[in-house]
Amino acid sequence: MALIIDGKQVSQKILAELKEKTRELKETKGITPGIALLLVGDNPASKSYVASKKKACEELGYFSIVEHLPETTPEAEVLKLIHDWNHDERIHGILVQLPLPRHINELKVTLSIKPSKDVDGFHPENFGRLVIGLPGFRPCTPAGIIELLKFYKLPTSGKHIVVVGRSNIVGKPVANLLYQKNPDANAIVTICHTGASDLRRFTRSADIVIAAIGKPKFITSDFLTNGVVVIDVGINRVDDPSSPKGYKIVGDVDFDDVEPIASAITPVPGGVGPMTIAMLMKNTFLSASGELKYEA
Ligand SMILES: NC(=O)c1ccc[n+]([C@@H]2O[C@H](COP(=O)([O-])OP(=O)(O)OC[C@H]3O[C@@H](n4cnc5c(N)ncnc54)[C@H](OP(=O)(O)O)[C@@H]3O)[C@@H](O)[C@H]2O)c1
Repeated sequence: MALIIDGKQVSQKILAELKEKTRELKETKGITPGIALLLVGDNPASKSYVASKKKACEELGYFSIVEHLPETTPEAEVLKLIHDWNHDERIHGILVQLPLPRHINELKVTLSIKPSKDVDGFHPENFGRLVIGLPGFRPCTPAGIIELLKFYKLPTSGKHIVVVGRSNIVGKPVANLLYQKNPDANAIVTICHTGASDLRRFTRSADIVIAAIGKPKFITSDFLTNGVVVIDVGINRVDDPSSPKGYKIVGDVDFDDVEPIASAITPVPGGVGPMTIAMLMKNTFLSASGELKYEA
């Protein structure tokens, strides 16, 4: 029986600590953490992510602005809004919900966010800081994975970790975090992608596999060896006529097939997913409190 890594429980613990620290910050320094959330268009998944982030802000006592603009909003209007938030002292974190409509250049928008308010950690300055080990905002999902491994005392130092997926928001940053020379990382990391003609050759040699692929139940037990730790980042909607919504969420790992041979595994839902919002709230708190020394 594998240890089930309970991201819901860990995230609730982090959020409860943040709530207490937020109360103290308000009392001692008169600072209320503030976040600005931008949603452009009506993508249902994006709307639900933004609603969850707003709810988390309310529960923690953060100040939040949610701007929901129509799909046809010109790029210049989005850039102007971010410019204003960059200069708004009430706002310590700016989050633009991706994907943006096709006529808006995502990179341009990401670059327009002041790096010291980039609580998503997507700005190239923050990514560069991550790579060379300087303080900066770490992307939320990868940071959440590190927190889960730490919480369950699953060692990474000297371990071979195979990350399947090289996206800028998950695969690349988590791989870069995990090989850093510090006790919470120090792993030997392999990044796999569609260029791997025999993916099993890599995943079978892994102590820890991190799946960030975007393909439902792609990783099955034949990809893995006994005792492996499995972190499933995938969030995939698959048809499920028995569910009132008509679909269910599954990960990139075939949980039922893999769990018997794994030593620890994250479920979907309830594994990595809840950690993402918790780390966003943590980044915003660090920005507001000044605990993150952004300067070199
Ligand atoms: N839990 C959370 O909060 C959270 C946050 C973000 C994302 N997600 C989920 O995580 C998953 C990955 O997201 P993402 O944004 O990283 O996805 P992405 O940008 O689509 O990247 C997918 C990666 O998987 C690789 N890949 C696809 N098929 C493969 C195969 N057959 N063999 C080896 N590699 C393969 C791709 O390789 P190439 O580069 O060669 O195309 C790519 O690098 C999605 O299900 C997403 O919904 C969850």
